[in-house]
Amino acid sequence: MTKSILIVAAERGLGLGLAEQFFIRGWNVVGTARSDADLTDLRQVGKSDLARLSLATIDVTAADEIDPFLESLGDRRFDVIYLNAGIYGPLHQSAVHATPADVTEIMMTNTFGPIRLAHHLLDHLVAPGGTVAFMSSHRGSIAINVEGGLELYRASKVALNMLARGIWATNRERDLTVLSIHPGWVRTAMGTLDGTVEPEIELEPSVRGVAAVVERHMGSGQNLYRDYQDQPIEW
Ligand SMILES: NC(=O)c1ccc[n+]([C@@H]2O[C@H](COP(=O)([O-])OP(=O)(O)OC[C@H]3O[C@@H](n4cnc5c(N)ncnc54)[C@H](OP(=O)(O)O)[C@@H]3O)[C@@H](O)[C@H]2O)c1
Repeated sequence: MTKSILIVAAERGLGLGLAEQFFIRGWNVVGTARSDADLTDLRQVGKSDLARLSLATIDVTAADEIDPFLESLGDRRFDVIYLNAGIYGPLHQSAVHATPADVTEIMMTNTFGPIRLAHHLLDHLVAPGGTVAFMSSHRGSIAINVEGGLELYRASKVALNMLARGIWATNRERDLTVLSIHPGWVRTAMGTLDGTVEPEIELEPSVRGVAAVVERHMGSGQNLYRDYQDQPIEW
């Protein structure tokens, strides 16, 4: 049977690359974007088989968009739900200089918004054996943080990893798989800080690797923290 994935934030960057990867691999793909987004590139992904790509609208920080979004999904169920939305936050990245607005924006976008949405989406997973994947980062590892810095972004991703673990732990009866995946340091708007720094890898090898990690571990019932090459990352 054709597998299906819901990718939250799929109209540019890693989300768009993932939509394309899963589409190429024969999956049915539902990709979301915010209501004012340019959907041209995402629509292109489905041009060879329009029936396998659908679009939906959600801003992960907007609680009032959750019900209409869930309604738009109808009774669709997904093998994998991939929460990809994220921001870098203010360039200073400093816990000392962060304003309450800075903290709210990054924590709602990178952590509480995706986690809240994942909770609401659990009934849209195949059962048993559904998989929730989060776009984490190696910056979310406490164990490998020996250089400090990037305080706001790190805080948002370490909290994302913790709350992802919580979803897994409190839904054991569903035989849920929860993956926290580091895509590498990738050429996207975020990865280049809008073209000002040079990343480590291009988009294609990253999303190809991430898709392979998902396919390898989906339905395993585990909670894993892996990079795009399937290397375990210490929590
Ligand atoms: N690039 C890297 O090197 C790297 C490394 C590790 C982890 N990551 C993670 O990968 C994910 C994607 O990043 P990227 O590199 O592809 O960055 P990007 O090109 O800047 O894309 C960010 C995506 O998140 C969406 N988004 C932002 N705020 C949102 C909100 N409130 N609601 C819904 N969608 C929202 C954006 O939608 P709009 O177009 O509407 O803004 C866009 O689709 C992020 O979670 C990021 O932390 C990236």
